[in-house]
Amino acid sequence: MPVSLSPGQLEGIVAALRAAGCVFAEEEAELLASAANEPGELGELVAQRVAGSPIEQVVGWAEFCGLRIAVEPGVFVPRRRSEFLVRRAADIIPADAPPVVLDLCCGTGAIGLALADALSAAELHAADIDPVAVRCARRNVGERGRVHQGDLYEPLPPELHGRVDILVVNAPYVPTAEIALMPAEARLHEPRVALDGGPDGVEIHRRVASGAPDWLAPSACLLIETSERQAPLTVAAVSAAGLTPEVVTDEDWSAAVVIGRRRGGR
Ligand SMILES: C[S@@+](CC[C@H](N)C(=O)[O-])C[C@H]1O[C@@H](n2cnc3c(N)ncnc32)[C@H](O)[C@@H]1O
Repeated sequence: MPVSLSPGQLEGIVAALRAAGCVFAEEEAELLASAANEPGELGELVAQRVAGSPIEQVVGWAEFCGLRIAVEPGVFVPRRRSEFLVRRAADIIPADAPPVVLDLCCGTGAIGLALADALSAAELHAADIDPVAVRCARRNVGERGRVHQGDLYEPLPPELHGRVDILVVNAPYVPTAEIALMPAEARLHEPRVALDGGPDGVEIHRRVASGAPDWLAPSACLLIETSERQAPLTVAAVSAAGLTPEVVTDEDWSAAVVIGRRRGGR
C-alpha cells in the first residue's frame, strides 16, 4: 500500500528534495510515497534520493515507450531519448513475418522489449556483459524472450547466425575522458561499464559493427544510438563493416542513430 501523506509531510519531503537539487521535487515526492509501503521505508527512499541516487533506481522503475521497466540499483536507467531508436527500428521492420530482434548491450532490456511490444510478435534476444543488468533484463523480458550474459556476440546461441532481422544497440558511447564531466547521478550510480566508450567513445560501436554481418539476415538492419558529434565515427565503423550507413536525428530529444543496412537490403 502506498504511504498517504499529510500536506505538512508532503511539504517537508518536497523541501528536502528541492534542497538536494531535484528539479521536479513535487512529482518525485508523490512517486516516492507511492513506492513505499510504510513511513519508515518512505524515509529510506527519500534519503537515497537526497543522497543522489537516480529516482528510477530508488522507486525501482522507469517509463519507456509507455512501458514500466524495472530498474535495479547499479543498472543504467533507460533514457527517453532512446525511444527514437525504438521508433526508427519499428518503422523499418516489414509487417509480414515476426522478426528476430537482438538488443545488444541491453541494460534493463528496455529497448528490445519496447520494440518487441511495438511489433506485437517477435523473437526477442538481448545480451549484456554485466550480470546485474542481465538479472534486471530477465525480470523485464520474462517469457517474451531470452537474455544472454557475456561480451557482445560471444554468449549468443549459434543458431542465431544470419537470422537477426533487426539489431538494436545502445552501447556505452561516452569518451573515457568525459566521464568525469557527467552529472553525479550517472557518474556515481551507473556502472562505468555502461558509460565508457573508450578514448573516442565509439570503441564498442566498432566491435558491434564489425561483428554484425555474421548475425544479420540477408536484408537486415543494424541501428546504433550515438551522439551527433560522434555520428561520423559511428558511420565510419558501420561502413568499414560493409554496411550502408545512414544517420537519422531527432532535435527534440537530441537523439542520433546510425542505421546500417546490408548492401542490397531494405
Ligand atoms: C549505455 S548502457 C545502455 C543500456 C540499454 N541499452 C539502454 O539503453 O537502457 C550500455 C550497456 O552496455 C553494456 N555493455 C558494455 N560493454 C559491453 C560488452 N562488451 N558486451 C555486452 N554489453 C556491454 C553495459 O553493461 C550497459 O548495460
